[in-house]
Amino acid sequence: MDEIIVTGGTPLAGRVQISGSKNGTLPLLAASLLIDGETVLDNIPDINDVNVMIEMLRALGAKCEFIAPTTLKIDASTVNSVSAPYDLVRKMRGSFYVAGPLLSRFGECEVPLPGGCVIGSRPVDYHIEGFKVLGAQVVERHGVMRAQASRLKGTRIFMDPRSRSVGATVNLMLAASLAEGTTIVENASREPEVVACQEFLRAAGADIEGIDTATVRIRGVARLGESRAAVIPDRIEAGTFLYAAATAGGDVTLQAARVQDLEFVLDVLRRAGAGITTGPDWIRLRAVGRPLPVDIMTAPFPGFPTDLQPTHGVLAAIARGTTIIEETIFDARYNYTDELTRMGAHIRIVDSAAIIKGQPRLYAAPVEATDIRAGAALILASLVAEGQTEISGAEFLDRGYQNIEGKLKGLGAEIVRRGTGSGERNLCLA
Ligand code: EPU
Repeated sequence: MDEIIVTGGTPLAGRVQISGSKNGTLPLLAASLLIDGETVLDNIPDINDVNVMIEMLRALGAKCEFIAPTTLKIDASTVNSVSAPYDLVRKMRGSFYVAGPLLSRFGECEVPLPGGCVIGSRPVDYHIEGFKVLGAQVVERHGVMRAQASRLKGTRIFMDPRSRSVGATVNLMLAASLAEGTTIVENASREPEVVACQEFLRAAGADIEGIDTATVRIRGVARLGESRAAVIPDRIEAGTFLYAAATAGGDVTLQAARVQDLEFVLDVLRRAGAGITTGPDWIRLRAVGRPLPVDIMTAPFPGFPTDLQPTHGVLAAIARGTTIIEETIFDARYNYTDELTRMGAHIRIVDSAAIIKGQPRLYAAPVEATDIRAGAALILASLVAEGQTEISGAEFLDRGYQNIEGKLKGLGAEIVRRGTGSGERNLCLA
């Protein structure tokens, strides 16, 4: 396990390049399995979750080769297995995305069920129900989902509007692309990563209407063609750096960031007192003193993203007043608050709400990251805390943030990594 050591108190200044999106890359990698030929993906981030998914494609028989530092060529004409190895699925629940494409293209798949998760109970029942509605025979036994269908049949799938699912929307769209007839997904998620996947499928020859709406209509085709696409910038990484500047103070410009993916977050940061200016592919944040408290409630896109709830919690911990956060997506996403409390934050959790009374300062303490976004929150807290904070569990950050300590160092933060080389931990996060 590596540790990240941060000496707090230095405001951030400068420019930072935003990498390709983790949650945008995973659906495209899975979609490449639908194609009996080559897919080229640009702007692939070098993060562990993406590398696990590439390993998964290789384990299924696809050829994957980096033809430039961030450009991956995948040839899925050589896929020779429909069984996803448990060792890879347990590392990352996003790997369940291979189920839809395998089932649709090969008529069968065997994918271990991802199991529990540190940020809350994260079942895959919507995915499985959707496969059944598309005509698959599905059996869940010994922790493995086995699905079969000579050819999936298009139909209308109603997702529960009270809990839209990014993952199920993606998996069912992938499955429907090669199905017979038309599939209509009602109450589909509209996260930018879902839309990017729809655009990728359309570019590969899928017949999709209703892109970026809650009703997506997919007329299945016999085959998809070779295709090339660039992964969209990571809006959660971008948001994390904006929060870092708003919390630690300073003047930071994000390069390669999409404003349209962050409108709600930018509005929250403006209300917290930050000065924000934007251009076609950049966002600049200038912090002005201690932030003001802003209440938030997490919601599916275009609402406030649950993946930035922990970073907002840190801003709230030093704000000039009391903030109420309501988490509506995951039932255990306050696990970072105990560690933040050890750094001097005043936080009370009542059901799905966190009531955070802002303090003038936080103090360094040894803390532990328990998931990727909790890890990011602890880094932000340590940037503003008095003294030197040691954050263990740095491997969680490597799952979703490309070189976070290098990027923060480039902005002037005093941050180093110390390798302790002891063991690897696997917890589902993505
Ligand atoms: N849900 C079910 N049954 C299902 C699927 C989802 O009950 O079959 C519930 C979940 O338990 C949750 C809600 O529906 O309460 C929404 O879950 P969703 O399916 O949208 O989440 P996901 O697809 O598993 C993705 C991201 C998460 C992000 C969420 C919400 C990927 C690989 N992961 O997860 O990212 O928090 O959407 O936006 O895209 C992260 O990057 O750190 C991360 C956790």
